[in-house]
Amino acid sequence: MTIDIEAARAILRANDRGGYTVPTDRLYPFQWNWDSAFVAMGWATFDEERAWRELERLVEGQWNDGMVPHIVFHAPSDDYFPGPDVWRTRHSVPTSGITQPPVFATALRHVFEIARGPDAQARAARLYKCALASHDWWDRARDPEGTGLVAILHPWESGMDNSPAWDEAMARLTLQPTTPIRRRDISHIGAEMRPRDEDYRRFIALVDLYAGLGWEPAAMWRASPFKLVDVATNAILHKADEDLLVLAEKFGSDAERRRIEARMARRAAAFAGLWNQDRRIYQARDLGTGTVVSASTSAGLLPLFAGIPGARQADELAAELESWLARAPYPVPSTSPLDPRFEPKRYWRGPVWAVVNFMIAEGFARYGHMALAARIRTATLALMRDGGIAEYFDPTSGEGLGGGQFSWTAAIGLLMTDQPTRGQRGL
Ligand code: GLC
Repeated sequence: MTIDIEAARAILRANDRGGYTVPTDRLYPFQWNWDSAFVAMGWATFDEERAWRELERLVEGQWNDGMVPHIVFHAPSDDYFPGPDVWRTRHSVPTSGITQPPVFATALRHVFEIARGPDAQARAARLYKCALASHDWWDRARDPEGTGLVAILHPWESGMDNSPAWDEAMARLTLQPTTPIRRRDISHIGAEMRPRDEDYRRFIALVDLYAGLGWEPAAMWRASPFKLVDVATNAILHKADEDLLVLAEKFGSDAERRRIEARMARRAAAFAGLWNQDRRIYQARDLGTGTVVSASTSAGLLPLFAGIPGARQADELAAELESWLARAPYPVPSTSPLDPRFEPKRYWRGPVWAVVNFMIAEGFARYGHMALAARIRTATLALMRDGGIAEYFDPTSGEGLGGGQFSWTAAIGLLMTDQPTRGQRGL
């Protein structure tokens, strides 16, 4: 199975705004954090220099405390809400005030291992420091009590904005936004494929709360009514720590290596508390109530990507996924089709996302579930071939949905075509 490689490359080139790649024209006119990490790996399949630039431009937005923001507003645009005037952060390149899943160190290792240029060492050494500062920030700002697992303070930080995993916590929010809501997304895309107005009111209410606290992490932690231990973020951070540790062998100190190892050991142990044996999946924990969130989502499979589950749990995750695919044949639905909240066309409440498929396929391959990994990769490429390089796909029909000409989907197409049948690549 393959896609039109030239067409996928052309999408990255068309979305290139000078060293950074917008997710797609108009709908997302800035640089997004985890999009760029995947996109850098996509560039690395054919343009090494451009892959480095993607990562370097992202850290132009990195804050002094180490946070890599979820959006870097390199150039103004009226096509997106909320823009810099709503975020009210103080960074000199305007940025948002929250982060996104830290794929950065994984992308950095990937680009470095492929790189042939004479400046690869120096570039990687500099970016290693940025990645380390970002992981240290996660630890300090988002796990101040030292539990081993980090929490997100806004659904947008998960990258899975309107996942049913956030429903209960969002429904409890009594905060009102002070900023008038001027959605731009639904002038580009049908409202039935996007989060609802009620979600947006709550998203912006949280932004207003944190802006009022000057985006100060300790104050945000204390005041936040939304504190969720997201499975995806922790799994991605764990995988990123694994990759950071490899880079630290070359670029870091003994003390840094020990710090990363200690964090990984604590996190690996704490993950056991997110495993739901009855539901055969990992589930988020709501720190507001201390309870486990009942939704089964594709995030719950991502610990495979980080090597967290034991072999028996990996088998259970495979069986759980098979039961989803009996209802929705195009892998991997973002919400279990057995969950009453499953909506096949609404963003993170059902549709298939290529980047998530990439991580899940890597995860199953890591555990020797090669047939399932190959099935996910083949199906992902088939979705792109038949449904276009879309933002996401309907898991019941395969239809391409949301924005078109989408950068991270193209990047995953390039990555999966590059080595479609490989096992664990040790990303
Ligand atoms: C949406 C997605 C998020 C992504 C962004 C840009 O907000 O939920 O994960 O990073 O779009 O593609």
